[in-house]
Parts: sequence; structure tokens; C-alpha cells
Amino acid sequence: MTRPGSLVDSHGRILRDLRVSLTDRCNFRCLYCLPETEAAQNFYRGHWAQMPDAAPIARQWVPRTQLLSFEEIERVVRLFVAHGITKIRLTGGEPLLRNDADHLVGKLAKISGIEDLAMTTNGFLFAQKARALREAGLRRVSFSLDSLDRDNFKKMTGRDGLNEVLQSIALAQELGFAPVKVNAVVIREINDHEIESLADFAREKNLSLRFIEFMPLDSARAWQKEMVVTGKEILARLQVHATRNTQPAGLIPVQPDNPSSTSKRWSFPDGRGEIGIIAPVSEPFCGHCNRIRLTADGKIRTCLFSVTEHDLRSRLRTGASDEQIAAWLREIVLGKEARHHIGEPDFVAPERSMSCIGG
Ligand code: GTP
Ligand code: 5AD
Ligand code: SF4
Repeated sequence: MTRPGSLVDSHGRILRDLRVSLTDRCNFRCLYCLPETEAAQNFYRGHWAQMPDAAPIARQWVPRTQLLSFEEIERVVRLFVAHGITKIRLTGGEPLLRNDADHLVGKLAKISGIEDLAMTTNGFLFAQKARALREAGLRRVSFSLDSLDRDNFKKMTGRDGLNEVLQSIALAQELGFAPVKVNAVVIREINDHEIESLADFAREKNLSLRFIEFMPLDSARAWQKEMVVTGKEILARLQVHATRNTQPAGLIPVQPDNPSSTSKRWSFPDGRGEIGIIAPVSEPFCGHCNRIRLTADGKIRTCLFSVTEHDLRSRLRTGASDEQIAAWLREIVLGKEARHHIGEPDFVAPERSMSCIGG
């Protein structure tokens, strides 16, 4: 249903989901996002000899003065919520590098009209902040966890932090964040051998574990389609594994929680844990996309793969009224991209990598 004032694009998609990046900075260097470690470079050069010629993105953190303040973010969120947005996800970079993120959560949690307030974090600092976030009103959290092997985790993230992340996930469950989701980006020859053990982890810990296809959003521009393990391949392997381990039923499809969901879901026969597959490369879900993004430096992105960003910060800081900003947003939304063009000859990667865009 279109509410009065809803943001609708020129393809008839009604926007409901705003992803707000709190910072572009990160305390990890994941292979699929900021592959700046020697291990990352060795991996790409060693396994994928045909590296593309594209120059890496020269990374420069956004200067602090250019980051939106919490007051500015709150104003923007209120404005979006007044125009039909019901779902807010705080992301980064690593959102918990922003001091007092719980204060922002507290302010946002009071905005009526938000039905879902969630955060995506790498989990390294989460345990320290979990109680404050929960008390402030955060309901849901998604963690990144691509490996359960300490060495491989370090290779993939640049940080020896597996224990911290596992503790954070356990604490999130204990404190009643629900559902707790875990995201694993799968890259061929680095963590694809862990697909089955990650699925076992989901069942054992009663978690929702989502396998994500690697997208061309890394700062080294190292992505190649050969590195993508498709959702279909992941599912086939998991079906074989589940049939062997949970006789005789295998995985059971679960209906999507909403039509704009990024993932397809399966449960285990004993009802513990869940598997999701997010396959934006091999099975794009753009037709139902209801997402829009706000970067940490106050730019609006109408698509993860937008090549144009729209400068909201300057409007916020030069006295534009809510009405003026709303009119401007309505116009921008009309230009939301129909879909991404990954893998097509005309594909142009965004100028900024995932940590700047917001995961
Ligand atoms: P919930 O299922 O409601 O928890 O939200 P979500 O599916 O958006 O989950 P999350 O924020 O954890 O996103 C999971 C991953 O899906 C992201 O990290 C991205 O890799 C991918 N993703 C999210 N939104 C988009 C999108 O708009 N386009 C594409 N291509 N990928 C996306
Ligand atoms: N491809 C797919 N997903 C990615 N993420 C970050 N970079 C990529 C990429 N290149 C996702 C990870 C991380 C979240 C913040 O964004 O799942 O958990
Ligand atoms: Fe939406 Fe763009 Fe993601 Fe497609 S790639 S689902 S249009 S944000």
C-alpha cells in the first residue's frame, strides 16, 4: 500500500528500508571489502593470477567534520520515516567505531513509525556495547562471520578476532536480540570449504546464517566472477550435507519474511537454526528492492551500485527546510536504478568501496 507521502521510484517500487552508515572506518580489513593486508594481496595474486588492470581505490577516511552528527542523522531518519520508511539499519564501516552509538540508537528508537531497528556489525566490539545498545532499544543485530577457523578468520579479516566475535554472537542471543543473523561472504578458494561447518554452527547455535555471494565492491577491485560461489552451488552442497546429517528430510524451504528480502531461506528438520542465501550476482533481487542508503558523510545512494551520490549534507548544513529536503528526496528517488549490471560489459563499479557505501 502506498501511504501519502511515500517515496516511490519510477519503477513503482515503494521505499521502506533506509540503511544508515555511521562511519566509513573499520577495525577489520576483510578480503571482500578492504583487502589491504599482505595476506589479502597474496591470496588474490596467488590464486587468481589474472588480476584485472583496474587501479585499486585510493582510500582516505572521511574527515570527522564531514561525518553527519547524531542530530543530523536523527533529523534525516525522522524525515524518511515521515515519508514511509519503516525499517532502519545502522551499518558502516564498523558502526560501533562511532563513539556512543547507543545514544543514537536511543534517539532513533523513540521515533514512532520505525517498525524495525537493526544493526550490522563485525562483532569485534559488540560484546562491550551490547547491553547499552539493547537498553537503548536496538532489537536486531546481524554479524559478519566468514570463517570458524582462527587462522582463516584472521586471513579473511586481517584481525585475530574470532573469539571476540563468537562471544558477541552468544551474548546477543543471551540478551534477547532476535533474530540474530550471521552473514558469511563466500569467496572461492578462501572460505568455500567452510560452508558446511558454518551451516552446522547455525544449527548448533540456533542462528540464522546467510551465505552471501561476493560482489564487486572491494577496494582493491580484485573481484572476478570466477571467485563467486553461486547461491545455487552453495545450496546444492548444503542439501547434500543436510541429508547426510539430518536424515532423511534435508533442508526445508521457509517463506520470505517480506517480498523485498535479500535472502532465500531454509530451515533444518529439527527446527533449530536457519540458512539463508543472498545471491545478488547470480540471482539479482533488484525488482523488489525497497532500499535507499545514507552514507556516513551525508550522501544519498539510491542503489548499492550507484555511480552518482546525492549530497544531503550540504543541504542539512545550509538551512534547507524539511519540506525542501523532502521534495528533493522525492526527485532523487525517481532516479533509483532499475537494477545492477554486475557481470555485464557495461558494468561500472562504484567509486567508493563497501565500507564507505554501507554494507
Ligand atoms: P534483514 O534480512 O532484514 O535482516 O536485512 P538484510 O537482508 O538487508 O540483511 P543485511 O543488512 O544483513 O544484508 C545482508 C547483505 O546483503 C549485505 O551485507 C549485502 O551484502 C547484501 N545486500 C543488502 N542490501 C543489498 C542490496 O540492496 N543490493 C544488493 N545487491 N545486496 C544487498
Ligand atoms: N560482497 C558481498 N557482501 C559484502 N559485504 C561487504 N562487502 C561485500 C562484498 N564485496 C557485506 C558483508 C558484511 C556487510 C557489512 O557487508 O556481509 O557483513
Ligand atoms: Fe537494490 Fe541496487 Fe541492490 Fe539491486 S543492486 S537490490 S537495485 S540496491
